[in-house]
Amino acid sequence: VSASSAVPYDLRRLGAEPLPAPFYAVIGHPVAHSRSPAMQQAALQAAGIRARYVAFDATPADLPMVLELLPRVGARGCNITVPHKLALHAWIERHGRLAPSARQAGAVNTIAWEAEGPVGHSTDGAGWEQAVAEVFGLGLAGLRILILGAGGAGRTLALHAADAGSHVALANRSPEKAAAVADAARANAGSAPVEAVPWTAAAIAAAAAASDLVVHATALGLDPGADAFPFGREVFAAGKHYYDLAYGAAPTPFLKAAAAAGGKTAAGLSMLLHQGLLSFQIWHPGLPPEKVDRALAAMRKALAAPA
Ligand SMILES: NC(=O)c1ccc[n+]([C@@H]2O[C@H](COP(=O)([O-])OP(=O)(O)OC[C@H]3O[C@@H](n4cnc5c(N)ncnc54)[C@H](OP(=O)(O)O)[C@@H]3O)[C@@H](O)[C@H]2O)c1
Repeated sequence: VSASSAVPYDLRRLGAEPLPAPFYAVIGHPVAHSRSPAMQQAALQAAGIRARYVAFDATPADLPMVLELLPRVGARGCNITVPHKLALHAWIERHGRLAPSARQAGAVNTIAWEAEGPVGHSTDGAGWEQAVAEVFGLGLAGLRILILGAGGAGRTLALHAADAGSHVALANRSPEKAAAVADAARANAGSAPVEAVPWTAAAIAAAAAASDLVVHATALGLDPGADAFPFGREVFAAGKHYYDLAYGAAPTPFLKAAAAAGGKTAAGLSMLLHQGLLSFQIWHPGLPPEKVDRALAAMRKALAAPA
């Protein structure tokens, strides 16, 4: 377990060099790239809350130990990022309580340590919904959506969108995951129209042509060493909306291709912002609206600064 390069805290030194309590954290592996510390610290400051927000790099093997330790040394809440969201859901089921958002998503991205113990929430689905409304002016009810990727994020969005009344098509490299998520979405949201689509150019082209919004939720794209986005022009068309969960300084290959085809494009920073504000509000319930507005403005400013 080690602190990310963004934050000079190391759990092994906590006894000798305690963090100022209360504090909040993001836990991931890797985590050094995370924009959450800058964004959440700016929000705390803007809302006048004296607390720190730090990052911890914890491997999957270390995660249970970290989750036991953090509340004992003053943590009130944390965000969880890749690759821990699904594992955390199982851990919370055993050691705490799942809020309805986490039950629906089958994943946890936010913990609040309350008097009764840890409570797991998922703010990714609602944060993404707010982002899509903000950047594209689209509401989920009745929207036809193709989601590429059925990992933790794709699953959360598919379940959230189905619950909100979207028509969802879902494709994943490993088809059994797309089928399982489609089953879970139908079970969650009654007779929601959710369809698993094969991970082939022809099937994805047909599903894209029938969709208003195509969401890229695989891990492909930002890492120059990763495989390339495997589909071409057939996925993209003028006038349609393309949202990539990944974000970074440069547009992803998915968004570049979508923009070249005349599509309307947006990267995942808006989702990061809105899921982050929802986490912040879980940790600080009852803040007056003007403080929430100040926190949101400060988060936007922090994300607009170079990483
Ligand atoms: N903007 C935000 O706020 C936000 C929030 C959450 C996540 N994200 C981003 O969303 C992305 C996915 O995150 P996650 O939590 O869902 O990760 P995950 O659970 O590890 O899932 C990874 C997904 O990528 C697919 N994949 C990986 N390598 C592939 C390849 N070579 N070809 C085709 N598909 C491949 C996987 O398919 P298989 O199942 O076949 O392996 C799976 O669907 C990440 O980039 C993450 O940073 C952004």
